[in-house]
Order: sequence, then C-alpha cells, then structure tokens
Amino acid sequence: MIQTLEINLGTRRYPIRIGQGILAGLSSCLDSRAVWVLITDETVDEFYGKELVAKWKGSTIHPIILPPGEGTKTFHQVETIVSRMLDLNVTRDSGIIALGGGVVGDVAGFCASIYLRGIAYVQVPTTLLAQVDSSVGGKTGVNLPQGKNTVGSFYQPEAVVIDTETLSTLPRRHLISGLAEVIKYGVILDYDFLTYLQRNIGEILSLQPGVIEDVITRCCALKAEIVIADEREAGLRKVLNYGHTIAHALEAVTAYDTYTHGEAVLIGMQFEAQMARELGLIKPDYLNEIQSLIQASGFDPRLDLTADLLEGLLGKMTQDKKNRGDTISFILPAGEGRTEEVLLTKKEARGLLQRL
Ligand code: NAD
Ligand code: GLY
Repeated sequence: MIQTLEINLGTRRYPIRIGQGILAGLSSCLDSRAVWVLITDETVDEFYGKELVAKWKGSTIHPIILPPGEGTKTFHQVETIVSRMLDLNVTRDSGIIALGGGVVGDVAGFCASIYLRGIAYVQVPTTLLAQVDSSVGGKTGVNLPQGKNTVGSFYQPEAVVIDTETLSTLPRRHLISGLAEVIKYGVILDYDFLTYLQRNIGEILSLQPGVIEDVITRCCALKAEIVIADEREAGLRKVLNYGHTIAHALEAVTAYDTYTHGEAVLIGMQFEAQMARELGLIKPDYLNEIQSLIQASGFDPRLDLTADLLEGLLGKMTQDKKNRGDTISFILPAGEGRTEEVLLTKKEARGLLQRL
C-alpha cells in the first residue's frame, strides 16, 4: 500500500509517497520531462541506480555518481556536478533525481537550487535518516571547514518518493543513525510516539514490515506540520535542532569523518537532555526515559569531554546558524513533547557542560 502525505506550501506544494518497492515505478510517479539527471553515490548506484537507469523508459536519464560519505558535501563537488550538467546541455525544463542518503539529497538539492538559477528536483531517499528527515522540507547545502551546512538554500523538491524496501541493504550503523532523528521527533513533539518507540525499538531495528512504514509515515507527518508552519526556520522549525547544536560542532571538530551525522545527534541529544535537567527544565524520570531510548538504539553516546574537546566544541558552537548576538542557541527538551530555546553565552555554556 502507498501512503501519501502532502507538504502544503501553496503553489509549491508537493507529495510524499511512501511504500514498499515503489522505486521500480519511479518514472510513473514523476512529472513528464524529456531529460532527468540522476545524482547518486557509488554505493547506492550499485544497489539501485544502475538498475533504475537500465530500465528507464520514455525520457533521457544522465547518471552522475558521487563518492559516498559526508566528505562529498563540498563546494568542489557542487562545481563538478553543475559543470557536468552544463557539458550535457541540461536545460531548465529538465529535472534532478536525488537518489541516496542525506548527503546526496543535500548536495543534489543545492545544485538544483542554483543550476541555471533553479531547476526542478525530486528526492528519492534511501537511508532511514533521509526518509524521516532530510528529504522533506527543502533544506539543502554543503559543509565548510568552519562549520556544518554553512552554505545552502531553502529549495523545495517537486516530490519525495520513499521506497522502504531500500532499507534492507542499509548497513546497521546507518540504520542506527537514522533512529537518532526518529527519537528526536518523539522527544520534541510527540510523547505518545516516544512511548511507541520504547515498545517497538527491536521491531524498528529489524525493519519489521508495517512498523517501519508506520514510523516513517509518522515522522514525515510531524515534519510536514513544522515545515508548513515555518518553512524558513523563522521560529518553530528550530525545534528540529534538538541535539544538533552539539552534534554539528562535534562533526566539524572531528573533520566530518569520525561520527555519522546520526551518531553525532545521539551524542548531542544525550548532552542536551542532561543540560535541560541541570537547568531544571525536565525531571530526572523524563531524563532517564530519553537516555534509555538513546541507549536502546545500540549506539553508546558517551563522549570523553576533555578540556581541549570542550573548547573546540564551544568554538564551533559560537558559529551555529541559530545563534543570536553573542549567545549560543540550544533547543532543549522542556517536558513531554515540548522544547525550549535556551540562549547561553560561551562562558555559561562552558560552565554548564563542565558540570555534567
Ligand atoms: P549518507 O547520505 O552519507 O548515507 C550513509 C551511507 O549509506 C552512505 O555511505 C551511502 O552510500 C549509504 N547508503 C545509502 N542508502 C543506502 C542503501 N539503501 N543501502 C546501502 N547503503 C546505502 O548519510 P545520511 O545519514 O543519509 O545523511 C546524513 C546527511 O544528511 C548529513 O550531511 C546531514 O547534515 C544531512 N541532513 C540534512 C537534513 C536536511 O533537512 N536537509 C536533515 C538531517 C540531516
Ligand atoms: N533537519 C532539520 C530541518 O529540516 O529543519
């Protein structure tokens, strides 16, 4: 069965289709265009891209294959992709298909937003993280050594097509990374969902049919509500950044090659839940619930916060996109399904993190 949700952004509204095995019929889910550019990475190409291209009918499809991993989210890759598209004479009425995880989605979406001043694109996410989060909502971008996602755009896709069967080939490490963003929704927006996750974590990790579709649909519905209300993160959308102030800093200080994004988010959520408890925003029982769920993911979120690492993190956190003035913005849990934005000076953040 295919579930369809809608991101209702007026003239830029688009559907999210979720179902098992729907990748095979991808061309029939898309608008008719004479030329498509398929952007994917080497791993996803081996599993799904090559077959898609081999069976493609009715229009031209040009594959562009990127190296896998976070290191691909760079200006250099963007230049390579758009140059290749110019060489292929890709015109404005063509479209991009972003087939892969969040890295491919963010880079391909950014290319779509700038190529010939903007062409259409479709998100076809193949990791759990991308299926529950990054493919929805139109955030695109690349990393710089100074910081994560520091250059990018808000640029909505024409459609999101989620084939849950693609998760069967996803390595467990990346499945757990996706679980980070799933847990995030439970903490920030939906306590019933959080208790559902507590009861069903084993079924999710074993990709039990039915359960995994329900989880993805629930996450996309929660994200849709937020994006519709605050597309460009003027306020409400910031809630999606729980755990991310520390996560993005940790990814940047470790040169984007030690932790996956989801692992960094699990570590960030653990620290930021402890910060919320220390500030009296949540009770010890609720902190325990959050920590138990994070640990049930199978990833150990403990981090040895040495003085050097703490200073490195604080340095990166002062460049966080959400900051105001000379304060660092943290989105902290503030009760079941609720968050609060807490602004701390560097000195206050240092003191608080040292006390944990
Ligand atoms: P990823 O894109 O690097 O994918 C993880 C790995 O899994 C890669 O090696 C990839 O080749 C492989 N892979 C992908 N699909 C596969 C499949 N079906 N079978 C086998 N292997 C597969 O990482 P990710 O966790 O999907 O995404 C992380 C990125 O997403 C980060 O850069 C993060 O900043 C970004 N992100 C963006 C948003 C947003 O709103 N735009 C939200 C959250 C995260
Ligand atoms: N993943 C955060 C956002 O989309 O706003």
